[in-house]
Amino acid sequence: MVTLIHTEYADLIPNIIGGCEETTTGIIRLKAMEKDKALKCPMIAVNDNKTKHLMDNYYGTGQSTLDGIIRASNILFAGKTVVVLGYGSCGKGVALRSKGLGANVIVTEVDNFCALQAKMDGFVVMKMEFAAKIGDIFVTVTGNKHVITLDHIKSMKSGAILANSGHFDNEIDVKSLEKQAKSKRRVRSYFDEYVFENGKYVYLVGEGRLANLAAAEGHPSEVMSLSFCGQALACEYLVKNKSNLLAKVYTLPPEIDDYISALQLTAMEVSIDELTEEQKKYLSSWQEGT
Ligand SMILES: NC(=O)c1ccc[n+]([C@@H]2O[C@H](COP(=O)([O-])OP(=O)(O)OC[C@H]3O[C@@H](n4cnc5c(N)ncnc54)[C@H](O)[C@@H]3O)[C@@H](O)[C@H]2O)c1
Repeated sequence: MVTLIHTEYADLIPNIIGGCEETTTGIIRLKAMEKDKALKCPMIAVNDNKTKHLMDNYYGTGQSTLDGIIRASNILFAGKTVVVLGYGSCGKGVALRSKGLGANVIVTEVDNFCALQAKMDGFVVMKMEFAAKIGDIFVTVTGNKHVITLDHIKSMKSGAILANSGHFDNEIDVKSLEKQAKSKRRVRSYFDEYVFENGKYVYLVGEGRLANLAAAEGHPSEVMSLSFCGQALACEYLVKNKSNLLAKVYTLPPEIDDYISALQLTAMEVSIDELTEEQKKYLSSWQEGT
């Protein structure tokens, strides 16, 4: 919508106070627009809220991606080798939930720190060219394109399942798969079998679109409430601060993020301790405890 407004409906821009972007990849695009001076109104990066990417992406995508794959395939995760491509917020959730269901999890990454986190979290980390040969289920959560190429697919075991839960249906090179496969058959709703000339076959969930949205119901509302609370408070922030905001990408102040956590805890009937005056003083001083 932001791109459309900036390209085909630019006449709307003078009346726009600002916008809020919820997705990881959407924010990457907005920052690219800001860098090119193409962005014409303030935008709030709601995904940067801790109450968004450490909740929705992690718990939401972690659960609903597996929900989508299971609904589409009715496969048992226990004992399978699941390859998670990308160990960001979503990938961490998908890896954790797969492990919880008894799968052996392999992670592929391009970022040293995320790869290190995956290794320290107890997962096997390797290059995709090697993981491709041993995985049973592949889940892309990178926001990048062609992280599973046709060459990867050709080296997979027969019966491998491919699913994307990242941004677009180009994380898996579905177009090349469509061209190269000898035949394609819909074996279940949202579950297509592609057979190659040599008889090998693979399955694709939800045509390579987001598995949790295509084959399940997206995230449960309980976790989306945190994201949408962030969106609503971002709108309020835009209106209240409109005279000070430039055509840039902004992160909400941490107090708003903290307020969202507090609201959610109240909704979950959880209460926590408060710092005493003595503790506040101790935490903000340098004289004591050094
Ligand atoms: N399915 C959903 O409902 C849902 C929900 C939230 C976010 N998303 C989308 O999922 C994607 C990931 O989101 P995130 O918050 O985890 O992002 P993130 O930036 O935290 O993580 C992405 C990770 O992928 C890695 N990566 C990039 N290219 C790679 C490659 N070629 N091979 C292996 N790893 C690679 C990056 O290094 C990074 O660690 C984004 O596109 C986001 O918009 C989907």
